[in-house]
Amino acid sequence: MMELVTPFLETLATLFIFAVGLVILLLVVVFIFDISQRKNAVLRNYPVVGHFRSIFSSLGEFFRQYFFAMDREEMPFNRAERDWVHKAANNADTTVAFGSTKNLSPTGTAIFANCPFPTLDEDAVETRPISIGEGFCKHPYTAKSLFNISGMSFGAISKPAVLALSNGARMAGCWYNTGEGGLSPYHLEGGADIVFQIGTAKYGVRDLDGNLSDEKLSELAAHKQVKMFEIKMSQGAKPGKGGILPGAKVTAQIAEIRGIGIGEDSISPNRHLDVASAGDLLDMIGRVRKVTGKPVGFKSVLGATDWLDDFFQEIGKRGAESAPDFITLDSGDGGTGAAPMPLLDNVGLTIKEMLPLLVDKLEQYNLRERVKVITSGKLITPSEVAWALCAGADFITSARGFMFSIGCIQALKCNKNTCPTGITTHNKRLQKGLDPKDKALKVANYVHNMNHAVEIIAHSCGVKEPRGLNREHVRIMQNNGRSVLMSELYPKI
Ligand SMILES: Cc1cc2nc3c(=O)[nH]c(=O)nc-3n(C[C@H](O)[C@H](O)[C@H](O)COP(=O)(O)O)c2cc1C
Repeated sequence: MMELVTPFLETLATLFIFAVGLVILLLVVVFIFDISQRKNAVLRNYPVVGHFRSIFSSLGEFFRQYFFAMDREEMPFNRAERDWVHKAANNADTTVAFGSTKNLSPTGTAIFANCPFPTLDEDAVETRPISIGEGFCKHPYTAKSLFNISGMSFGAISKPAVLALSNGARMAGCWYNTGEGGLSPYHLEGGADIVFQIGTAKYGVRDLDGNLSDEKLSELAAHKQVKMFEIKMSQGAKPGKGGILPGAKVTAQIAEIRGIGIGEDSISPNRHLDVASAGDLLDMIGRVRKVTGKPVGFKSVLGATDWLDDFFQEIGKRGAESAPDFITLDSGDGGTGAAPMPLLDNVGLTIKEMLPLLVDKLEQYNLRERVKVITSGKLITPSEVAWALCAGADFITSARGFMFSIGCIQALKCNKNTCPTGITTHNKRLQKGLDPKDKALKVANYVHNMNHAVEIIAHSCGVKEPRGLNREHVRIMQNNGRSVLMSELYPKI
């Protein structure tokens, strides 16, 4: 026996000495490289150990959320918000114990005004569907769900993610917006109602010269599932900048759907080249509606607001039939696959300020009934959705909420093709973890539990259904430590 063990131990010892030697050699090479390079001061002053700084700061991005960040601390979404979505998506218990971890004092915090005599379950009614474009389009759309899926293009997100969302949307009875990357077979495969987004590059609806094609619009409108068309003016994460899909994510199929080269960065113009005024926008809305027969609206984040007066006055001149059937208002703090940081951080105002303003402007120009208001921007929990209903929104949409529902862990890698949960990557290995069938169910659970939780808030405020909520039902914290009814802050409706 010993004859066998001794040579084995000897080989092991030799290997060990060899490995240690190799590590020492490597450290010497790194040491020499670090002190002789001139680009990085930390490495030149602290050779070898200086590397730990960048290793720790990149690992910190992953570990902070587990070990160090408090429940209500992280951005863009904190653990409490993400946990609520994950539990809702898994149909798990969403109740919490002991007391709120939310600080209710900061200025702007919304607190719902509960009524002494809440609505009893037997008096509650179901959320009523709302018709969009009724009386103004050949094929108006009656939308059942108040909570729907916001635009995320096939390209920014993966095939299994699109399949999970489109199947989930069908199961939940909500709509799914294609985002600006065109209509893929996977959007249709799920059988959900689809809102087709016309981005500034007009992917999916452009002719060979890149202009809007009536022929392509008619082809799309022929799909029964395609219910509405949304012209994208801008989105909150990058106002004044078109879509950015890094070349690493432009696969052969995505290139074909968009009509661009494989592996090329897909950069959309920063506005529709043919829309330079309020009149042009109305012309485009009218043209798409005429060709498709379906409701048409536009999506924008608001910064400057004077143009809204020009726009609504122009509608006044042309008649209510020229108006958009809906406006989607995105928040300055909205999400994206990829965007320059200054635009992401500091350009475009949030819906907290702009949603009441938009609703009031529509009221002022007598267009409130005609133009439906859809809004998005961090509305991923019931309180946020209920706030938007109080402010006057008809519909709420979310992108990142639905990403969480299908497993997103906020790894912040959407721009890299390395998403660890397979949602924003076309890497087949990483997509393996995303089973569209299982995740579709989670999408549907999320919608159902969201609706149910918003109903609970509505009933607590004494109304029979969520759309009964208005500005009398929410108070907003002021910097003097006292709250004011939203109806006093924005008294128009
Ligand atoms: C991965 C990703 C891709 C997106 N792609 C689009 C797009 O193609 N078109 C668009 O209008 N908005 C796009 N958005 C923005 C969302 O539709 C939405 O307006 C924004 O994220 C705010 O909603 P949220 O806070 O619920 O995510 C994208 C967002 C994400 C996270």
